[in-house]
Amino acid sequence: MVEVDRKTFLASLPAGALAVMSHEDKAEALEHYMEDELDKKIAARRGEVDGEAGSIITLDELEQEGPRAPRGTGRLFQPTEDEFAPMPDAPTLLDFFQLRFAPANHVLQSATHALTTGQPERTIFACLMHDVVLNLIKGDHGWWGAQLIEPYVDERISWGIRYHGPLRFYADEEFGYEYPEMYNRIFGHDYVPEPYIKQAYEFARNHRYYAEARLITVNDTYAFQDGMDVDIEVFTDIIGRQFKQPKEGLGYDNSPVAHMWRTMANPNRPL
Ligand SMILES: [Fe+2]
Ligand SMILES: [Fe+2]
Repeated sequence: MVEVDRKTFLASLPAGALAVMSHEDKAEALEHYMEDELDKKIAARRGEVDGEAGSIITLDELEQEGPRAPRGTGRLFQPTEDEFAPMPDAPTLLDFFQLRFAPANHVLQSATHALTTGQPERTIFACLMHDVVLNLIKGDHGWWGAQLIEPYVDERISWGIRYHGPLRFYADEEFGYEYPEMYNRIFGHDYVPEPYIKQAYEFARNHRYYAEARLITVNDTYAFQDGMDVDIEVFTDIIGRQFKQPKEGLGYDNSPVAHMWRTMANPNRPL
């Protein structure tokens, strides 16, 4: 596991932020912090100093006083010194993983956990996709993440991704999902999710697709392990079966979400 030191994590938040952050905001900040820490640790072990690792905001940068991007800003829209690698004319999901989402350690580890514990292929793929939208935007990422892939997947996959967000805060013994002890340690035992989170949880809890979202949270908790390196190519066949790749390329198929893919393909577009 990536160890989270309470003081270091809290220090990574903007000055004064804690007082005005909702519990939900704090939990989001913790998750994104852990994902970034995981990426940095793996990059450091590979000896990468530039390249992928260079696009990650460091703790020092987060601690800086003064103007900064809102915390919900996607990773591709954070300050960077790197150029974006050119995308092919008709980009595939694999191209996005390799050229825009990399290193993507958290989702790769999550999907690997689902794979090695014999879960349905649909769940493995949902785990692979559950947080990729963090590259575009972080706030309410379950909803954004579901929308991003909705035209291309079985509806149970996008449904599960939409509701994995609210479900994280609610235990389910039947699935072996405990309320993350980390949340208690970081935020105290009086944590109460915002009303819209609770409503979404209750809706999902009583829905026939409940397990689709619950399993994502089960695999999510295993997905912050240092020392585990996974290549996206492991999932090439699963992607082929689970994702209806548009022949025009992602961003150019005139789907209701094409613009979201184009924006990630070219984060430098000024208007
Ligand atoms: Fe998530
Ligand atoms: Fe996650």
